[in-house]
Amino acid sequence: MPGDWAAALAAARLPRTAWLEIDLGRLAANLGILRRAIPAGTRLDVVLKADAYGHGAVPIGRALEAGPERPDGLAVATFDEAVELREAGLRLPILVLFPIPPEHAAEAGRRRIAVTVGDEVLLERTLAAIEVARGSARAGGRRRAPHQLEVHLELETGLGRAGLPPELARGAAARIAAAPGVRLGGIWSHLQAPVDADRTTGQADRFQSAMELLDADGIRIPRRHLSASGGLLAGSAPLLDGVRIGLALYGLPPDDLPADRLAGSAAAGLEPVLSLHARPIRVIDLPAGSGISYGPSFTTRRPSRIASLPVGYGDGWSRASSNRAEALVRGVRVPLVGTVAMDAVMADVTDVPGPEVGVDDEFVLIGEQGEERITALDVARARTTISWEVVTGMARRLPRVYHAGLVPLGVRTLAGWRIGGSDSALERGHLRPGGRRDRQPREPQPVDGDGRRRGDQARGR
Ligand SMILES: Cc1ncc(COP(=O)(O)O)c(C=O)c1O
Repeated sequence: MPGDWAAALAAARLPRTAWLEIDLGRLAANLGILRRAIPAGTRLDVVLKADAYGHGAVPIGRALEAGPERPDGLAVATFDEAVELREAGLRLPILVLFPIPPEHAAEAGRRRIAVTVGDEVLLERTLAAIEVARGSARAGGRRRAPHQLEVHLELETGLGRAGLPPELARGAAARIAAAPGVRLGGIWSHLQAPVDADRTTGQADRFQSAMELLDADGIRIPRRHLSASGGLLAGSAPLLDGVRIGLALYGLPPDDLPADRLAGSAAAGLEPVLSLHARPIRVIDLPAGSGISYGPSFTTRRPSRIASLPVGYGDGWSRASSNRAEALVRGVRVPLVGTVAMDAVMADVTDVPGPEVGVDDEFVLIGEQGEERITALDVARARTTISWEVVTGMARRLPRVYHAGLVPLGVRTLAGWRIGGSDSALERGHLRPGGRRDRQPREPQPVDGDGRRRGDQARGR
């Protein structure tokens, strides 16, 4: 950690010595790489569901909207994720990828939130809810009709999760076309195994056949979308009118993309946006035979120096990684030992060369230090899961330090926001691509009176 950055973090007065760093410069660079990986005129929608894969949906959305290369739209999984973004003032088009309860359909229309429908019964209920809302608007004397609800139809082409079977698409599209107050915004499907060329071709063919039938019926489909990170980076699927990219935006290639495919693809230049850091709450020398943490599942075999890091399964550092993961300290890999507790995990630092490791040393659990790097994929493999789950699982209680290269932009804690530089730094984004933490940072400013941003106060949040 460069000394300047340490000073900037000290000035941020984090509530605990474990934190995530989110590099918005890398986010911008990744967006640029993805933009260049798709043909001009193809839409690039970015997926901000699950708190932007643990990166923080509102700050990520603001940074993207304010950046030099905006995405064409945002996608989330739930209605309230979309509302959160609208409440934060985001204006980009938003699509909710999972069907919402029909009773929220009218509000979705009002807020210009597009919704997905993939079931005939829910489609009828959604249309009925919109009709009721139009009726009450008329009865209330409103001259202007409520905003039209944009509906995307999801097709089941082989994922086995959601969506209308293709043979029902014509009827559904015709119902939407005939219903006042709604319009067809697009038709989409999702790939089951993008690195499996045959499976993907099968899904793409089923999708294409359904589109041809709709074309024959004269139904205009403004947007057809199929590919997420895997389809784009494996090059296995047609990009159609646009792609919906999550994982790759955050700098993480899909786990199962073979290394040679990765090197030749746009993903080669992507850099992880998120890193996880901690300083110990205790470093102690223990004799051989000492049990470490619950169980114990680890007992020292020699006199050992053990650092306790304040990160546990309550932060998303899964208990399943007990005795299976590593951290970096002073650029050296050290094993994490003992059962992961809710709030702590222990590192065996006995073999770190040089002066004894102490409470001022910074550990990296995900990210880079010196020449070493621990990726979300490394962490995922240690606990037999996938990169998506590792980053998405990062708990809200981990403070998030937003920066662009070496410029600290803001800190999100459970108590609210502290903003470095100007209050609107995040909105303006400072989204210059690239940049590692090796230049002089500006110091984050002290906490605003009640820890909230001025903009948020104005909106009464
Ligand atoms: C429907 C849909 N589209 C797009 C995505 C984004 O996928 P990825 O993170 O692999 O880019 C997801 C992620 O789960 C999804 O469910």
